[in-house]
Amino acid sequence: MKAFAQRSYGPPDVLELTDVGTPVPRADEVLVRVRATSVQPYDWHLMRGEPYIARLMPGGPGLFRPAIAILGADVAGVVEAVGDDVTEFRPGDEVYAMPKQGGFAEYVCVREGELAPKPGNLSFEQAAAVPLAALTALLAVRDQGRIQPGQSVLVNGASGGVGTFAVQLAKAFGAKVTGVCGTRNLGLVRSLGADEVVDYTEEDFTRDGRRYDLLVDIAGGHGGSACRRALTREGTYVSVGGPAGRWLQPVGHVFAALAAGPFVPQRVAMADVVRCTENKRNLLTLTELIETGKITPVIDRCYPFEDVPAAVAYQEAGHATGKVVVTM
Ligand SMILES: NC(=O)c1ccc[n+]([C@@H]2O[C@H](COP(=O)([O-])OP(=O)(O)OC[C@H]3O[C@@H](n4cnc5c(N)ncnc54)[C@H](OP(=O)(O)O)[C@@H]3O)[C@@H](O)[C@H]2O)c1
Repeated sequence: MKAFAQRSYGPPDVLELTDVGTPVPRADEVLVRVRATSVQPYDWHLMRGEPYIARLMPGGPGLFRPAIAILGADVAGVVEAVGDDVTEFRPGDEVYAMPKQGGFAEYVCVREGELAPKPGNLSFEQAAAVPLAALTALLAVRDQGRIQPGQSVLVNGASGGVGTFAVQLAKAFGAKVTGVCGTRNLGLVRSLGADEVVDYTEEDFTRDGRRYDLLVDIAGGHGGSACRRALTREGTYVSVGGPAGRWLQPVGHVFAALAAGPFVPQRVAMADVVRCTENKRNLLTLTELIETGKITPVIDRCYPFEDVPAAVAYQEAGHATGKVVVTM
């Protein structure tokens, strides 16, 4: 099969179109013919092996060379074959998942415990835009944020892959939502259901005197203490991400916010979708929200498979509005 594989860390051109053996599903795995995949910061962090500190962390990307050859965390496609113990899926089923790797290829093996039926009202392109970003938003808003109907919620970074889902989810859970984004995306974020929008190029939400019950910090442009100024005394700060750096960021930003947790009155938490063990159950929840029209993916651009490096380069530039998708 064709796949974009990498042998060394570096910029998008380390992703080389190669012929590799088609994977064979283990007993609990499903072989999926990939119809679409999407790109996220997770992919280019692994591609570059940055921040370097992540290479030292358990389950990290490999100290000197990439531990993962084929990137691509999200997939939507069709079941080609199933392992002996698989009971829920059969060839021909339309599915989607967040296998965390292997999506930049014609086929990928996904554990049955990570796979879900594709939402009936989405195309493969749309479905591939959902898993990692929407699962992160769900973790941040519902599980770590413990959102309650009627609360006021600020989503910082409302126009990106995670933020476009976080705004819609917070609305679906009955909150009053303020979305922070740049000038060109104010209309989009309002159209996703935000009651208020803040243009980060004109205003500083940490200094305008407003207080929120929940702050979901995806863009991470302000330090944790500045963000807590925008919270009520009983409020919750959920750290999701922040500006990238070579050595430490965004890991340093997230951990600095968490470290302050025991010393401040507000609750401080982080979302970590990669280590979450409930992703299948959460994907089924997302399917229901999608099929009932409560949330829908926002797609910025679709690239053909041959242009995976260009898709990753565009995502890495940091100005995607919603998701960047690759179709096969
Ligand atoms: N913890 C986890 O499990 C997890 C999972 C997924 C992602 N993340 C992290 O979350 C972060 C966002 O991920 P993503 O997929 O949403 O990224 P993304 O799609 O690349 O986000 C791009 C968006 O961010 C906006 N933005 C940039 N700077 C901003 C600022 N200072 N204030 C408000 N908006 C700003 C951009 O708008 P403009 O073009 O107008 O600047 C653009 O629309 C990353 O750090 C990523 O690593 C963490």
